[in-house]
Parts: sequence; C-alpha cells; structure tokens
Amino acid sequence: MSTDTVLAEIKNLRTYFYLAEGVVRAVDGVDLVIKSGRTLGVVGESGCGKSITALSLMQLVPSPGRIEGGEITYYRTIHKTASSTTADAINITRLKPDSREMRSIRGNQISMVFQEPMAAMLPVRTVGAQIMEAIMLHQQVSKEEARKRAIEILSRVKLPNADRIVDTYPFQLSGGMRQRAVIAMALSCNPNLLIADEPTTALDVTTEAQILDLMRELQREFDMAIMYITHNLGVIAEMADEVAVMYMGKVVEQTDVTSIFRKPLHPYTQALLRSIPQLDDVMARAAGQKKRLETIKGMVPDPYSVLKGCSFHPRCPQYIEGVCNQITPEVIEVDPNHIVRCHLYASHAAQAQTNKDATP
Ligand SMILES: Nc1ncnc2c1ncn2[C@@H]1O[C@H](COP(=O)(O)OP(=O)(O)O)[C@@H](O)[C@H]1O
Ligand SMILES: [Mg+2]
Repeated sequence: MSTDTVLAEIKNLRTYFYLAEGVVRAVDGVDLVIKSGRTLGVVGESGCGKSITALSLMQLVPSPGRIEGGEITYYRTIHKTASSTTADAINITRLKPDSREMRSIRGNQISMVFQEPMAAMLPVRTVGAQIMEAIMLHQQVSKEEARKRAIEILSRVKLPNADRIVDTYPFQLSGGMRQRAVIAMALSCNPNLLIADEPTTALDVTTEAQILDLMRELQREFDMAIMYITHNLGVIAEMADEVAVMYMGKVVEQTDVTSIFRKPLHPYTQALLRSIPQLDDVMARAAGQKKRLETIKGMVPDPYSVLKGCSFHPRCPQYIEGVCNQITPEVIEVDPNHIVRCHLYASHAAQAQTNKDATP
C-alpha cells in the first residue's frame, strides 16, 4: 500500500460534554489525517482531548458526551492487491454507535488499546477465552479454529509459551505481559488502524521499550496504521511519522516527526520540548547541583472555560496583548506539511495569500 494513502480523515470534529456545571468542549475543531501503514502521534498534556478524539473515531464517546459536528471519513478496504487498493468512504459521524456497520468497523477495521490493560480484560475469564470471543464475534470459525488462532496471535506478540498463556487469567500475568495480551486481542481482527491510547504509561521504562519495539514490528507485519496517543514526547520520537500537538481540544501544530523536534513553531510545542528532562540536567541534579526541570508556566484552564483568542495565551511566553487574547488563530501553513495555529506566524499567512493572489 502506498505510504500516502489516506485511511481516515477527521475534519473540524467537535465533541462536547454537557454537564450540570457547563459545557466541556473536549474536542473543539480538530483536523487530522491518518495514512495507511503510518503512525500519527498525538501529543499534549492531560485533558487536552486526545482520548475523546480517539473515542469519537470509534463512536465510543461516553455519555453525556456527544459528537456535535464535523466529519470523520474512514476509507474501508474492499479489495486489495499488491499494486492497488479499492476503498469506500464511510462517514463515521453519521453512523449510530451501536449500528451493525459501526460494530463491523470496530471489529474488522479499527481496534483500540488503552492505558490500563486490566480494564480491557475481564478478570474472571481466561486470556484465551476473551481473544477467542473477539475472533468468533466477527469471523465465521469453529471454537477449535478460534483457539488455534488465539494461540498463534499470542505468540505473534512474543508471549512465551502461548499455548499455556491461553489458559491463564489476566491477574496471573505481569503488567507487560497483560498489555501484550491486550495488543493480541486488538490484532485478532487484523485491523487497518490500531489506536493506542497511552498503552505504556502504566509500565516501567524497560517494559515500555519492549512494547514499543513490538508495536513497530507488528505494524510492519500487519501493514496497519497506528494512531499513537501519549503525553510523552520521548515516545513520540520513537514511534511517530507525523505528529499532531493538541491543546485544549485543538490541534495547535502538525508536521512530520523530524520537524517537530528540529523546528517546533508553536510556543506550546516549544514549552513541551523544554520540559523533557535532559541527561545533563538529571546528572547535575544527581550530583546535588540545584537545577530545576523547566515546566510550562500556569495550568491548563478549567475545562468549562471558553477563552477568547488563543487558548494558550494565558501561559504563553510570547503573548501579544490585544491580539492573542482577542482573535482565535487560524491554521497557517508555515512550510509545506507544517501547520500551526499561532498569531506569531501571521506574516506567513499574509505571504501565502499574496502568492495566491499573484498566481494568475
Ligand atoms: N466522561 C466524561 N465526562 C465529562 N467530561 C469528560 C469525560 N471524559 C473526558 N472529559 C473531559 O474532556 C476533556 C478531554 O479529555 P480527554 O480526551 O480524556 O483528555 P486526554 O486524553 O488528552 O487526557 C477533559 O477536560 C475531560 O475532563
Ligand atoms: Mg487520555
């Protein structure tokens, strides 16, 4: 499959929660493109709308949340050969969450892996029984065949003695093994898109590194796209091809992984990068020197607030009075395939407009 085939496209997605205290605009005009076989990293502080974007894509937004507007187009594979893919475009936002079509997309096209592997599995049923169930729900196979496939998929995620693990209960496995079992369950439907929502946040760093390796390997093997959600830019560097930085329900910057680290444009992205601990600083602190990790000043405003202008302006070191607190920044393409929502780049927008006007 060509690396530039669009698999899913999110346009101006808005997902709101209606609470007694007010409306939470969890996702407030998000645009994203997911390409076949590639990894889109979605990064941002806790509460910025990463999970709700992913859950919207799956039509799994919990009540009292609701998709308020926008479009999610998913290109479902109908026919695939070595040289071409035929797909039909489905507008997910128009499907009912419990419709047959939506359930078939969740079972055969898109799967999701969450942060807490224990929550994804039933504690009272064996790992194998749960994977077999997922297989038999969407594929016409016998129980014996499903068991055979469950063991096969458990060995694909590098669980040793898969033929024994198939009969264990989730609590008998370590955190890392459990997350492998959850990934196996997600892969059992051979998805074209795997959404991984902070899948390693609950694990220690060694186990995390192993799971990241595994996911990259499985991505090649299964030729699937991954939407990788994390608050950790280090993980983004390891995993992503493209990166979307989210802040308060919006994508504030998006580009390829190299550019996000070499040439971060949005002051929020720059601040996130400064808050990654550098080895020098860690060593200095270990040696007793006073060296503090830079944090982003201020806090994420409470989720009910609707800020005029740019939502990052109260925390922004480059804030322009009268502009940033008044006008909502539009998307500006500063370089090809590098967009940002920030007034600091207004001259680029003006230049682009002049070039456009000059073109006959
Ligand atoms: N079930 C819910 N009920 C009410 N508000 C919610 C619910 N889930 C998420 N939210 C709100 O939506 C916003 C985005 O949440 P989320 O997408 O989970 O953030 P992230 O995954 O980036 O940490 C937050 O302000 C959160 O409080
Ligand atoms: Mg989340």
